[in-house]
Amino acid sequence: MKIVVGSDHGGFNYKNKIIEYLKNNNIDYIDIGTYSTDSCDYPVIARKAAEKIINGEAQRGILICGTGIGMSIAANKVKGIRAAHCTDTFSAKATRAHNNSNILCLGERITGECIALEIVDTWLKSEFEGGRHERRVNQIEEL
Ligand code: RB5
Repeated sequence: MKIVVGSDHGGFNYKNKIIEYLKNNNIDYIDIGTYSTDSCDYPVIARKAAEKIINGEAQRGILICGTGIGMSIAANKVKGIRAAHCTDTFSAKATRAHNNSNILCLGERITGECIALEIVDTWLKSEFEGGRHERRVNQIEEL
C-alpha cells in the first residue's frame, strides 16, 4: 500500500512527523508537498493527492492543514474520494471500518502531535468491514 502525503503551510510540521512515522514503519509514501512553511493553497494540494489515488499511484492519503477541514472539503469534491477529518482514534477506526475512507485529514492547529500520530497509526491499521457498509458507501458514490 502506498500513501500520498500532503499539507499546506499550516500542516507542514505534522507532514514531516507523519513521514518520519511512515519511514519508521516501512510504509511506502509519496510526498506531494508543500516543502516549506511559505503560505500556499490547500485545495491545490488536496486535488493533487486525490488525483494520485484516483489514478492508482497511491491507495490512500493523508492531508494536513491548520484545521483539517479545508483539506477534507476540497478532497471530497473529487469523485471516488472519501476524506475523513479525525480528531480521535475512535473516529479513525470507525471511518475505515464503516466509510472505507481513503484520505485521512488532520488539523495541526487542532489536534496534539501524539494524538495525531496515534490517529494515523489507527487509521492505517484499520480495515473496511464491507457488508451493510458497502451498500452505504456505494450510495455515497452515486451522489
Ligand atoms: C491556512 O491559514 C488555513 O486556512 C488552512 O491551513 C486550513 O486550516 C484550511 O482549512
